[in-house]
Amino acid sequence: MRVVVVGTGHVGLVTAVTLAAIGHDVVGVDNDEERIGGLRQGISPFFEPGLQGLMEQMTDAGRLRFDVEVTGAVQGAQVIFFCVGTPARASGEASLVALERAVRSVAPSLSGPAVVVEKSTVPAGTAERLWRILRLERPDLVDEIEVVSNPEFLREGQAVEDALHPGRILVGARSPRGFETMRQLFEPLIDSGTRFIETDMATAELAKHACNAFLALKISFANALARVCERAGADVTAAVDVMGSDPRIGRAFLDAGLGYGGFCFPKDLQAFEHLAARLGYDFPLLREVARINDEAVEATFEKVKDALWNLEDKRVALLGLSFKPDTDDVRFSPALALAGRLLNEGATVVGYDPWAGAAAKSELPGLEVASSADDAMADAHCMVVCTEWDEFRSLDLRRAKALLAHPIVVDGRNIFDPTTMKEEGFVYYGTGRASHRSAH
Ligand code: UGA
Repeated sequence: MRVVVVGTGHVGLVTAVTLAAIGHDVVGVDNDEERIGGLRQGISPFFEPGLQGLMEQMTDAGRLRFDVEVTGAVQGAQVIFFCVGTPARASGEASLVALERAVRSVAPSLSGPAVVVEKSTVPAGTAERLWRILRLERPDLVDEIEVVSNPEFLREGQAVEDALHPGRILVGARSPRGFETMRQLFEPLIDSGTRFIETDMATAELAKHACNAFLALKISFANALARVCERAGADVTAAVDVMGSDPRIGRAFLDAGLGYGGFCFPKDLQAFEHLAARLGYDFPLLREVARINDEAVEATFEKVKDALWNLEDKRVALLGLSFKPDTDDVRFSPALALAGRLLNEGATVVGYDPWAGAAAKSELPGLEVASSADDAMADAHCMVVCTEWDEFRSLDLRRAKALLAHPIVVDGRNIFDPTTMKEEGFVYYGTGRASHRSAH
């Protein structure tokens, strides 16, 4: 099928590349000329495992191209995805300005039967609004245009894998034709066993917000439990394993640590709460989830303070700066929240990340960025694990101890074994589990 993807951010680019990979003829459109220039030279604007290679293959195969101009691209397209950003306004409400502009800019170029797909995460009712806009802009095509909601469930760092082997495909539509076109589009994935879920548009939109909010809730539950475990002398990792062994609960997203970050959970939670309030329902549980998440950073900060006392004249090494492993994304990264907190209290903070160093530096100029974990740890008074990259799990602990000025480790992601850390002579602070406040 002929497909246009408007917006080449994380979701849009992965969508464009993987739709090409399952056999479609795709044009990725973005009004950012520099980005399109880079994409035309085969350069992905962000790091995502497997994306660059697949993008090159699809471009070489002639099934994927990029354009700044939407008019030509849309001519004859059967499916047009909208993957533009929906950032939070100061109030927390999702800003849908870019989405409205994008849809209005495409409307005049629509020429015949086409399905307009809302892929961005948006408040319930947005697809209905898009439908109204299209009806007003193109009354001549009312019977030919469909609007559907097709929320994405991609995880950064696993986005290509998630797009090619999704857990489910969710489509909210107004008419059988919308479902039919989307079934046709995703046929190769449906044939290989992916569940295709059909709902109305508002339900699909709401379900996406509900999924992200519930996952964030699980993480905050684990973090609140960690606070209690720390006080009770219990082990949160063992406790959530017990919880997770009950299939009604499930073990996923119960890892306590520095909390969740990224451009989805914090923003979507706020937008969801805002939507509920607008509809006349107060949903304080969502505020509490966010509060516990902030508390997770604060609890880690307190451990550093407990270990170092005054932070002035102290050097703190942070391992991991991205909001989670396998991405260079630092948006709403708990690691940077912690770095900011430490810098405000007068510490010198030096961070290392396999991919996100440059992005972290531009977000937080006061942060020193080292080019290796060794360089970050050299002469630091304390090391904090902020993001659980594999590289840190296999850290040479003896070498780390020799490099650090003091053998103090605050494990914000519970990647080390407390007993081993004790045996190796570290002062070790876990998250929600045993801490060893003396080296031996
Ligand atoms: C999330 C959802 O998982 C995707 O399904 C969804 O499509 C996406 O948001 C979106 O709405 O676009 P993502 O933000 O890429 O994906 O990251 P996750 O893997 O969900 O992790 C989010 C945060 O939670 C990370 O900071 C991670 O470190 C943290 N986390 C995750 C925990 O602190 N504990 C856990 O047990 C799991």
